[in-house]
Amino acid sequence: AAVLVTRPDVPGRDAVDGLAGDGWSLVWEPGRPADGHALGGRVDAVGAVGVIALGDDPLDARFFAAAGAAGVRVVSLVAVGHDNVDLAAAERAGVVVTNTPGVLAETVADTAFALVLMARRRLVEASDDMRAGRWAGFALDGWLGLDVHGATLGLLGYGEIGRAVARRGRGFGMRVQHLARPSAPDDEVSSAVGWEELLGGSDVVVVALPLRDGPGGTRGIVDAAALRLMRRTATLVNVGRGPLVVEADLLAALGEGRLHSAGLDVFDGEPRRDPRDPVMRTPGLVVLPHVGSASEATRVGMTRLAVRNVRAVLAGQPPLTPVTAPTT
Ligand code: GLV
Ligand code: GLV
Repeated sequence: AAVLVTRPDVPGRDAVDGLAGDGWSLVWEPGRPADGHALGGRVDAVGAVGVIALGDDPLDARFFAAAGAAGVRVVSLVAVGHDNVDLAAAERAGVVVTNTPGVLAETVADTAFALVLMARRRLVEASDDMRAGRWAGFALDGWLGLDVHGATLGLLGYGEIGRAVARRGRGFGMRVQHLARPSAPDDEVSSAVGWEELLGGSDVVVVALPLRDGPGGTRGIVDAAALRLMRRTATLVNVGRGPLVVEADLLAALGEGRLHSAGLDVFDGEPRRDPRDPVMRTPGLVVLPHVGSASEATRVGMTRLAVRNVRAVLAGQPPLTPVTAPTT
């Protein structure tokens, strides 16, 4: 029987190769699967019992119908986000789904904080100007940004990533607050506040939520109404998933001067590579190509955890980090 890996480009490949030592044959797919139907056909064709996949693979109902029938027992994501997975279809098909929480939180929090600093202090604009030969000499009024120290940091999402961003905020001399949830009361780092206070009373808002559809879901949670509650001097950063923020509303707020700046690591529709795309050209907006967890050590750690999950399920043991129902 085989374990199928949906990508050829996996850091920590030796950890995956270790599965061959357990007697599984490894099948490395050469590139991104076209859709769930195609991926389902592949697992059937190679006789896979396990699949190592990414957070943007098409793990939909058609995939799970084929995977379940083919005898797949586990789909192990090398990602924490799982909005690409039809969990109901996985359950119907009897396939266990696992992800990689924990190992990436600190690295994603570093990325979030980098975006805060870059956006608020206009550092990318300043660097681009220098490299374009536009540095005319020290100017007292050149590239003035807004301070991060002394500002109030508001966290929309106070899971493991939000909490890691909160600790960085305290280290930078910020006051920290987060959206109150039953699972996220006050603690020694951050105070729990309501929606209007979180948005209206923060200078920097960092979004670190999972994307969830349906009632009580998070899709479009930062929309025009939410942005209108924010201060004109505020910065918005998103390291969760693109569709948490209504992009057109964010671009309008920046364009009309109703928001100071924003930093995005994730987009509604990835990849984005058209230089005429408004996200590439909106003043005050800093963009990164979904590199939140992209440190060498963290990507290897994610792969190792994904492999341990596969190994556990195929050995008939409980997975280390199964994807579970939301707890908020
Ligand atoms: C990346 O975005 C992840 O979900 O790990
Ligand atoms: C997850 O990040 C949450 O706080 O819901």
